[in-house]
Amino acid sequence: MNTNENIAYQDKIDTSKLPEHIAIIMDGNGRWAKAQGKHRIFGHKNGVKAVREVTEGCAEIGIKNLTLYAFSTENWNRPKLEVSALMELLFITMGKEIKTLQKNNIRLNAIGHLHSLPESNRKVLLELMEATKNNTRMTLTLALSYGAREELTEATKKIAQAVKDGQLSIEDIKQETITEQLYTKNIPDPELMIRTSGEHRISNFLLWQMAYTELYFTEKFWPEFTKNDLYKAIYEFQNRERRFGMTSEQINEQLTTNN
Ligand code: IPE
Ligand code: IPE
Ligand code: MG
Repeated sequence: MNTNENIAYQDKIDTSKLPEHIAIIMDGNGRWAKAQGKHRIFGHKNGVKAVREVTEGCAEIGIKNLTLYAFSTENWNRPKLEVSALMELLFITMGKEIKTLQKNNIRLNAIGHLHSLPESNRKVLLELMEATKNNTRMTLTLALSYGAREELTEATKKIAQAVKDGQLSIEDIKQETITEQLYTKNIPDPELMIRTSGEHRISNFLLWQMAYTELYFTEKFWPEFTKNDLYKAIYEFQNRERRFGMTSEQINEQLTTNN
């Protein structure tokens, strides 16, 4: 039987056609823990292992940008105890990862309303970002207290202010005007978005940036997501036809003229 476990997807990937940016909604920590009679926090702790594995997996094959949805604006509504445990876990994990990030030449970045984070978290996060800012192999972006609607609302306010102040005319508002006001202004749009745990929704993640992203859903819970699962998603991405509104014939024509 050909299960995912015994097919090595890494060998099937065409490394000349990697997605420039992979975004992941890491979901299912709580259900994974519950299935074993454990507390949700146990799931989050094991989720950190999957973060390491997937980050390593991306860096190894040459992915340039990886964005992980770690905490949404809506997640503040969870029970207080879970929120504080998640913040503590984030704090401890960030403190431990500096050496690994430097050794692997990975730049740490963050998107979201970082001022909502506990001061200690924000401090260590900013320190890590500063310490790794010249690393070039891959940018790892953590979405923390991130919500796309908030991001777009803030962008709208800034643009409106610029119009009000006479620095921008309405006719000059282009798609780029909006893009430049987003947290992601220096990162290309994700080409592939993976969500684990069998949920088929976006949950307020990168709404503007995912206009043409390929979506990939898997039943696996985040703590059990492996490097091979990541490579399987990339392999499937490479076998999709991205048409961007055109026809299949047009895409094939483009491919023949470009080769
Ligand atoms: C994802 O797992 C982690 C965060 C949202 C912080 P969940 O905590 O959402 O796990 P489930 O979806 O309840 O199983
Ligand atoms: C989305 O997961 C946010 C993160 C993974 C950080 P949730 O588990 O919070 O999403 P919903 O609320 O079920 O859509
Ligand atoms: Mg969830």
